[in-house]
Amino acid sequence: MRIDLISIFPEFFDVLDLSLIGKAQREGRLAVHRHQLRDFSFDKHRSVDDTPTGGGAGMVMKPEPWALALEHVLTQAQPPAHAQSPDAEGLPTLIIPTPAGEVLTQHTAQQLARTEHLVFAPGRFEGIDQRLLDWAPQHFDVRPMSIGDYVLNGGESAVVVMVEAITRLIPGVLGNPESLAEESHAHGLLEYPVYTKPARWRGLDVPEILLSGDHAKIAAWRAQQQDVRTRKLRPDLWAKHVVAQEKNLT
Ligand code: ADE
Repeated sequence: MRIDLISIFPEFFDVLDLSLIGKAQREGRLAVHRHQLRDFSFDKHRSVDDTPTGGGAGMVMKPEPWALALEHVLTQAQPPAHAQSPDAEGLPTLIIPTPAGEVLTQHTAQQLARTEHLVFAPGRFEGIDQRLLDWAPQHFDVRPMSIGDYVLNGGESAVVVMVEAITRLIPGVLGNPESLAEESHAHGLLEYPVYTKPARWRGLDVPEILLSGDHAKIAAWRAQQQDVRTRKLRPDLWAKHVVAQEKNLT
């Protein structure tokens, strides 16, 4: 997968060189390219923002530096003609982080993990001139996306979250792929509680069933714990789960 990150703070993304995502880059499973948006602004001050037309507070990001940066990414990412596979016609996905977007879920992360090219355009200030979003669908599958119902100062930290959620699902990125099948949200439920040694710690015992060696019983206990947790902490997810189960039974 190729990922392009365009920002006025490209150094924000240095954390992606650490840990498993850094390793995935070094192993060639993932190529992350960072771009400084100001490199595509050609006025004296390399400015990327201006006052809102019609008045109002704050500043709005100008469309031209974004369009030039995105065109640069498209040119760079163009595979040589002979290397184009017959199914490589799909547009790259352009993710615009915004609290006004579709909220990222595990299901969407799974879909995005199967794409070949993701471009992230995190805005600052009051957002990007709407005409950039009206222009971009000519070249990209445009997805305004949020990481939750709260407001950040800019989209960069949301990009880090999204890239981590998506890239850990690329085959080979996680050391133990079995953990993907069991973690929270994998099947619409929260994960069961986990324990390690010692069996007694500060007067607290590991549930006895986990020491029984009976794998079927342990699996049943874990499934029941998932239900209990989800019902208590995430009644919204539980309601969806119940509906899905009823559908499967009919
Ligand atoms: N930019 C500001 N707040 C955001 C959020 N919650 N999700 C994605 N991008 C954002």
